Amino acid sequence: MPERWTPDSWRKKPVAQMPAYPDPAALAETEKQLATFPPLVFAGEARSLKKQLARVAAGDAFLLQGGDCAESFAEHGANNIRDFFRVLLQMAVVLTYAGSSPVVKVGRIAGQFAKPRSSPTEKRGTAELPSYRGDIVNGIDFTAEARTPDPRRQIEAYRQSAATLNLLRAFANGGYANLGSVHRWVLGSLKDSPQSRRYNELADRISDALAFMEACGLNLESHPELRTTEFYTSHEALLLGFEEAMTRVDSTSGDWYCTSGHMLWIGDRTRQIDHAHVEYCRGVKNPLGLKCGPSLAGDDLLRLIDILNPDNEPGRLTLICRMGVEKAGDSLPPLVRLVKREGRAVVWSCDPMHGNTVTSANGFKTRPFDRILQEVQTFFDVHAAEGTHGGGIHLEMTGQDVTECTGGARAITDADLNSRYHTFCDPRLNAAQSIDMAFLLAEYLKRERATRATPLAEAAGL
Ligand code: PEP
Ligand code: CO
Repeated sequence: MPERWTPDSWRKKPVAQMPAYPDPAALAETEKQLATFPPLVFAGEARSLKKQLARVAAGDAFLLQGGDCAESFAEHGANNIRDFFRVLLQMAVVLTYAGSSPVVKVGRIAGQFAKPRSSPTEKRGTAELPSYRGDIVNGIDFTAEARTPDPRRQIEAYRQSAATLNLLRAFANGGYANLGSVHRWVLGSLKDSPQSRRYNELADRISDALAFMEACGLNLESHPELRTTEFYTSHEALLLGFEEAMTRVDSTSGDWYCTSGHMLWIGDRTRQIDHAHVEYCRGVKNPLGLKCGPSLAGDDLLRLIDILNPDNEPGRLTLICRMGVEKAGDSLPPLVRLVKREGRAVVWSCDPMHGNTVTSANGFKTRPFDRILQEVQTFFDVHAAEGTHGGGIHLEMTGQDVTECTGGARAITDADLNSRYHTFCDPRLNAAQSIDMAFLLAEYLKRERATRATPLAEAAGL
């Protein structure tokens, strides 16, 4: 029998990656205040997302999850949110068409503020200060004042999340996201892309499909399915005091939900089975992600699945694999085989970012686009070989024209990194690289669709 879960039962467990707040009374006061704030998302929405993810687990949909490594207070603004949303929708249109199946859109946004760190302190020369842990915890400047964890930042993060979500809801439902415009943006972004020839055929076919629909009398601007879109939020459930304060009972079902975002994930550094992060996450009914890095052993994965999804509910658990390009080919197949053999319903998603970070010759933390693509390719090849569904992608990306990852169709070099390197944390795909990624993913989805179609065609005697 598992021990009884309560929103604060994680406090009795060992915990990794928690900031050391110098004033525990002020922290407790903040958490008390947060607990009185309105929820950011509703349980019913989290349940809808779970249903959508169940379709992904069944092989009938694809999960597109992406956004900043960490949101920042300084970069909070309408343009950033709009540009990110726009690129994510463009990617979704390409993928929906290529896979002939729904794309579940989930942002790393409206709550993605806290960062796990490899070291609790940072040294510069002889000075040593607490590491920067994301704007919800402390400031990035290398001063003792900025680096001291400050609970008031949690209130600021809540307010920023609420404002971001408000705009996203307006974009998703207010007509901005209508299918015709989104496709026109895709065409616009292809116009000046060196890859446009390669992608034009697919883009033309989408244009034809839309023109056909319009010719049949379907008005893209007025039809609700084509005029609005479903969009969900997600973040790493790292700062557990904050998450606990946002945990509420859903009056419809009587279940506990974390209302700071629709989907939460457990990071690769905080997935210890008997620790606090797993304890907290097991008790809330939101859809969960679990980062799976190369050190994750098969038996530990099964134990984690049992704890996080004891009823084997499809859509509850997404395994986000981030092996790194060198290790993916060896590490992934045994896990996929094991989960399949044991009959566990999961979404398999690929995070090709976190295992592929390198330092450029001129000292920037970067990610070569080729390495990212190779891990994606390995991921889909493994699933094709195992007969499982490569169900999703998890990206660090932005709608801005930054220079943080090298390569891509517009070939960003080490020397370019300096020009628009804006990230406060990990390097992100820029808008063009993200669209590039979508067209490349489209090829895998088409391939999968073709192989899935064969048995049906055979069954029909064709
Ligand atoms: C992240 O997704 O930002 C992250 C820190 O990932 P991981 O836990 O996989 O290292
Ligand atoms: Co990151």
